[in-house]
Amino acid sequence: MNKQQAVDRILEQKKNNPTKKSGKAFAPSNIALCKYWGKRDTELNLPNNSSLSISLGDKGTTTDIKINASQDTIILNGKLIDNKTAFAKRTIEFLSLFRPTPTTFFDFNTVSNIPIAAGLASSASGFASAVLALDDLFQWQLSKQELSILARLGSGSASRSLWQGFVQWHAGAQADGMDSFAEPIKIDWPELSIGLLIFESSQKPISSREAMKNTVNTSKLYQQWPKRAEKDCHTLQQAILNKDFKLLGETAEQNALAMHDTMLDTSPPIDYSTEQTLAAREKIWDLRKQGVDVYFTQDAGPNLKLLFLQDSESEIKQHFPRLL
Ligand code: PMV
Repeated sequence: MNKQQAVDRILEQKKNNPTKKSGKAFAPSNIALCKYWGKRDTELNLPNNSSLSISLGDKGTTTDIKINASQDTIILNGKLIDNKTAFAKRTIEFLSLFRPTPTTFFDFNTVSNIPIAAGLASSASGFASAVLALDDLFQWQLSKQELSILARLGSGSASRSLWQGFVQWHAGAQADGMDSFAEPIKIDWPELSIGLLIFESSQKPISSREAMKNTVNTSKLYQQWPKRAEKDCHTLQQAILNKDFKLLGETAEQNALAMHDTMLDTSPPIDYSTEQTLAAREKIWDLRKQGVDVYFTQDAGPNLKLLFLQDSESEIKQHFPRLL
């Protein structure tokens, strides 16, 4: 099955629904505590393992989409960008899946309050907000489960960006991916905090898409990853249900390190960490030895995301004054 067939399956008769003048939506960014790494289907972004994330509240992307009679225009953070740029090409390719007629074009205006492609999952909130804005524009009134499947076709982690709080993306087993969608874990844990330690907000040296492909194809360590990740997701679920912060922090940190180990084991090796990343990891481990409850997770980039409970926030900010 290709992307267009997957979209047609979800939209069925809905392509001719009445259209509003514009559709607009916000979606939060999300940080995986149990990572998605490796695909069983690269066309449909079907993962080898389930994953579990936490959303970032008001940090994310707002997208506004209007119909344009003659061409696609892409505005990113207030600037009209050339349709030949990688960002515009990827966006237009995605929008093309949803044109009611071949001559329907879009004005796509997207604003993100997080650095693009810095391992801070801006593509997740970007594609999720695009799908929500299209649902608003075309009045499809799809279920969140269906919207999660559509968002996944843009970027895997986007399937998890339709909710606040904790979200689990079920890997699924079907070849058409109709059982590979996310859903929220309905539990409030307001004391749990996540802080961003940003060292770099420039583009990554290698996209997560390429990095995943190379890891799956060449890392021997990767063979153990899917099973381990499923187990970590399960442990994290238990930690969340029991509000066991130590178990959550330890499991998330070890899961991130295990993912980065599979990348280092790739040929050629993939290393997203910089000296600053390594120094910050050491500092966190030192702080823990001193009794400060702080853990980290790291995605496809050098930045770290710190996990801690609200009552230790001021202490952690003393050690990491740049924490966002
Ligand atoms: O959705 P993608 O293709 O940008 O991949 C995201 C990969 C990680 O951020 C490293 C892990 C995750 O689950 O978000």
